[in-house]
Amino acid sequence: MTRNIIIENATIVTPEGRSARKGEAMASVKVIENATLVARDGKITFVGPMAEMPQLQKEEYEVIDAAGRAVLPGFLDSHTHLIFGGFRPDEFEWRLKGDSYMSIMERGGGIQSTVNATRTESVEDLTAKAQWFIDRMVQMGVTTVEAKSGYGLNTETELKMLEAIRRLSDDPEQKLRVVATFLGAHAVPKEYKGRTAEYVDLMIKEMLPAVKGKAKFCDIFTEKNVFEIEDSRRFLKAAREAGFQLKLHADEIVTLGGAELAAELGAVSADHLLHVSDRGVEEMAKAGVVATLLPLTAFTLKEPYAPARRFIDHGAAVALATDLNPGSCFSGSIPLTIALACIYMNMSIEETITALTLNGAAAVGLADTTGSLEEGKDADVIILDYPNYRMLPYYVGMNCVNTVISQGRIVSKNN
Ligand code: NIG
Ligand code: FE
Repeated sequence: MTRNIIIENATIVTPEGRSARKGEAMASVKVIENATLVARDGKITFVGPMAEMPQLQKEEYEVIDAAGRAVLPGFLDSHTHLIFGGFRPDEFEWRLKGDSYMSIMERGGGIQSTVNATRTESVEDLTAKAQWFIDRMVQMGVTTVEAKSGYGLNTETELKMLEAIRRLSDDPEQKLRVVATFLGAHAVPKEYKGRTAEYVDLMIKEMLPAVKGKAKFCDIFTEKNVFEIEDSRRFLKAAREAGFQLKLHADEIVTLGGAELAAELGAVSADHLLHVSDRGVEEMAKAGVVATLLPLTAFTLKEPYAPARRFIDHGAAVALATDLNPGSCFSGSIPLTIALACIYMNMSIEETITALTLNGAAAVGLADTTGSLEEGKDADVIILDYPNYRMLPYYVGMNCVNTVISQGRIVSKNN
């Protein structure tokens, strides 16, 4: 299988750069009509007007005629809980009847219920189930997914989840890139109820050394009655010392100061941020922490959307992701994410594209490798059904991705 591709007659649409685009720079997306993209051995070697294309041995390449359609970087889903046992449709219905996410969690449901199911499932079953979701993500244009552990909450099961992520990532047939995050600090497990500090000790002394080298990021659910600021700071500092890059679930349910903590500790991203304070926005912008916003979760929980405009207007970098998980947001829909960002978060389609590509790449530390169509980057490319990229939010909640190319290989084609 060659990873040599030529895409002709393309309308190239891409942000540019090797780091997150911040503030008003998020809106500038380069458009090249009558363009060609060339990739060799999975890496982009040329992007530009067809007339300037270098001389090539065309028979060594798979040639795709885009027929004028829009060609964009593949999307990054930079925040998912892809690995989990069981499902929680009962909780979804309780919430529809007025129950709240946190009250279900406090009663021993929520995350703990998925922990119970995950502890009993085999690594093979967890891997196969995640692959089912991956196959559907790819059809929507996702070429990189971040996957968190966090439904083990003991060393053995956290390692089992990271092993499932490793198998997905290392599968030579895998259709996308998988980035691993350790989320042992997703909740205090029932065995440690009322003993949060002891669970933090366990994570620091036992789990961090055990998962080192198996995850790039360390994440935490910084929330009232889960891990509050002092426990979060202590854990994240230890994780940073152990060599992990940091992420936080911050200010999701109440305003707690998670955004400020992310800025203080130099986290790569803080995520959710539905209830971020004004100071949190400013400090994240100043510290260059990517604000990863997850509109599908706000939608599912019937909560207010995160203040995307406030972040952008303060010069911060915003990324968008799905938060796919069995509880607060059982959806991995990229089309609906795009629609909600544009319709309810007042992001322009150009800002939305940047948020799902280059800034998503920055949120997983890969802005140098993917997230834009530029020479030297991996050929993670999608071809839409239409020439006009503005169809993306307008075709509400519907998929207009036609062809998906991942590191130079065609991995999905919808006819
Ligand atoms: O990102 N808020 C914490 N974690 C997840 C939900 C996990 C679950 O409910 O299973 C989130 O929303
Ligand atoms: Fe999450």
